[in-house]
Amino acid sequence: MPGPSRSSPPSVHSEGARARGASQPPTSVAPPVAPAVRAPAPRTDLSEKTVDTSSLRAKASEWSAGKKLAYLRDRSIGDCRRCALAQGRTNIVFGVGNPEAELMFVGEAPGFNEDRQGIPFVGRAGERLNIWLDLLGVPRGNAYIANVLKCRPPNNRDPHPVEVARCSPFLHAQIRAIQPKVLVALGRFAGNLLSGSEQLALHRMRERVLTYREAKHGTTVPVVVTYHPSYVLRQSGDAPPGTSKADELVLSDLRRAVGFLRQGRP
Ligand code: URA
Repeated sequence: MPGPSRSSPPSVHSEGARARGASQPPTSVAPPVAPAVRAPAPRTDLSEKTVDTSSLRAKASEWSAGKKLAYLRDRSIGDCRRCALAQGRTNIVFGVGNPEAELMFVGEAPGFNEDRQGIPFVGRAGERLNIWLDLLGVPRGNAYIANVLKCRPPNNRDPHPVEVARCSPFLHAQIRAIQPKVLVALGRFAGNLLSGSEQLALHRMRERVLTYREAKHGTTVPVVVTYHPSYVLRQSGDAPPGTSKADELVLSDLRRAVGFLRQGRP
């Protein structure tokens, strides 16, 4: 089955090594000799910023997916302050699940419970996702679950474009590390981002065969876009969990995703 290329090295957010030119004060008397060839200034700062990124990348290409994810979480994201959401968060919600997952779910952003626990989809939306996974016979621990944003927006508002721009490189790096065979986008934000179809409404994305294309290494992965569990909760009223019309639509989308795992992409 065509899947993403598994040979590309991880591209973590490593800081580029900076060339340092040593500056020398001008000499007051100019001797008639050739200028001395100066040795480069010794490198005294061995912090993250001076790591040779090409050798790091070469090393990291040998790492397991789990090790790449751990590096991404601890070293690249760290105590992220790249956008204003950092001020209001309790925890960064990186992702959970099997680093070697074939099926990867991508939601929008952590909510209240996720922010408290540091784990995606553990509140009511997560309960509904778990019901879908049970109905499909997919153990949650076999999949990988992440979000477009790693920090909770105030009052669960929609992500702002600047937040998506700052945070989404980490999601792309997660996808490069995991190399799932199928991506499931839960909701419009994840669908638009993963499929690159910025203006498409959710029902339009559901109708189409979409592809995630990762420009850096040419990775392509089929994307199934479906309704966000929070939307389904709102639509389902008093119907028992997993039985409403909205649940049925999602379950048919998810069966399509699981079908891609078995048969290859459409
Ligand atoms: N909604 C999301 O999109 N992600 C979560 O992790 C929880 C709720």
